[in-house]
Amino acid sequence: QKSMPLFGKKAMVTAGPTYEAIDPVRFIGNHSSGKMGYAIADELTRLGAEVTLISGPSTQKSNFPVHRIDVVSAQDMFNACTSIFDQVDITVMCAAVADYRPKTVSAQKIKKQENNLTLELEKTVDILSALGKIKKEHQTLVGFALETNDEENYAKGKLEKKNLDLIVLNSLNDKGAGFKSDTNKITIFNKAFERTVFEVKSKTEVAKDICEAILKII
Ligand code: C5P
Repeated sequence: QKSMPLFGKKAMVTAGPTYEAIDPVRFIGNHSSGKMGYAIADELTRLGAEVTLISGPSTQKSNFPVHRIDVVSAQDMFNACTSIFDQVDITVMCAAVADYRPKTVSAQKIKKQENNLTLELEKTVDILSALGKIKKEHQTLVGFALETNDEENYAKGKLEKKNLDLIVLNSLNDKGAGFKSDTNKITIFNKAFERTVFEVKSKTEVAKDICEAILKII
């Protein structure tokens, strides 16, 4: 079917932030809205794929029927991703996963103290890198990079280091790009480091561009 080029394919998309608990009432999070990931999940579904959306805390809703797995922390997201990765053909990792989490999670609410409080943080697992290591020939793996400086070099470095097929760069320097915005401005690099620069567009339109780039390589 021409209008459903991904019919018969399975896809997995991560979206939104992760929350890393400090105590029962507090967490470390970030400003990711989930909009970009939800738009990509919708577009992959529209193109015929069977999509599982693994979402951190987000108020977004899908416009198309997708399987949805709700997660909170980076570790939850890792567990969900690795539990289905070997069944999917296309993976797009759009989530803003926390890089660090509190080393210990207090069982009780931490009381206010006289002086400053120091939290020790430990690294979370890099989900995308882990998937890049176990990726099979037939699988397509797409990552995102959000950079503030020397963005192209960092993006290309990640493409290689994480064993990706495509990397989508959004620069915080670009007006109309970013976390809560309804628009985004992206540059896509493929494995040959060929670069495609796109204009500022709605996240729905950006999702179409990303899916078209995926269609080109599968
Ligand atoms: O290395 P960096 O965090 O900039 O890479 C961003 C890409 O890696 C995004 O695709 C993001 O979803 C993914 N990522 C991940 N797990 C992490 C950190 C980032 O999957 N712990």
